[in-house]
Amino acid sequence: MDKKAFFKLTYGLFVVGVEFEGQLNGCIINTASQATSEPGRLVTTMLKTNLTTEMITKKGSMAISVLSIDCPLDKITHFGMQSGRNKEKFADIPFEKDGRGNPYIVDGTIARFSCRVEQTIDLDSHYLFICEVEDCQCTGQEEPITYADYRKMKSGGAPRKTETPADAAVPQAKQGKWVCSVCHYVYDGEIPFEELPADWRCPVCQRGKEVFVLEG
Ligand SMILES: Cc1cc2nc3c(=O)[nH]c(=O)nc-3n(C[C@H](O)[C@H](O)[C@H](O)COP(=O)(O)O)c2cc1C
Repeated sequence: MDKKAFFKLTYGLFVVGVEFEGQLNGCIINTASQATSEPGRLVTTMLKTNLTTEMITKKGSMAISVLSIDCPLDKITHFGMQSGRNKEKFADIPFEKDGRGNPYIVDGTIARFSCRVEQTIDLDSHYLFICEVEDCQCTGQEEPITYADYRKMKSGGAPRKTETPADAAVPQAKQGKWVCSVCHYVYDGEIPFEELPADWRCPVCQRGKEVFVLEG
């Protein structure tokens, strides 16, 4: 068995935050993912030895912040390489609280989910939490960071370059192409596609304008 295969799966990175009896804590996880959409459910897999896990089992809920590609490595280290048993992790980090008082971070994130634990499954070293999403919001517009990005950054590589929405808007408008959904011919004539006569036909498959779709 080649365990490197696990690194070929795509994961995001998240900060899971929880408040219990006035104490705030949180840690990094890569194991949050969607389970169902109606109702919205997420699953997280969490080490039993983490303080965050212990607090979640008592509280029955958590806030999940989705980290963006812009999230600095030191924030991941801050939440993922030390325990709240020795460090007040939210002391110097801007955060907000959800309806259940669980903390989520805003900087370097693109979304947050407020989750109530519906079921806890014992997986020996970990608990698998199946959670109902009680609320969720977008908090930024960047791309999500992946576990692979993190591994690259950790070994000294530069973070992946992504387009900002402003950068992306211009080329997208230019790149919008009318494509024939039957034969995949891409219209590139001088006359704007919308202004072609109603009886115009695809030069390849001879189908009408109605089978063209705008891609871009
Ligand atoms: C990239 C990365 C991914 C991690 N993924 C998980 C995970 O999916 N589940 C988990 O329980 N811990 C995960 N951890 C480990 C916890 O973040 C780490 O044990 C943390 O120090 C626990 O802090 P706490 O004791 O304050 O809860 C990950 C850490 C890193 C750096």
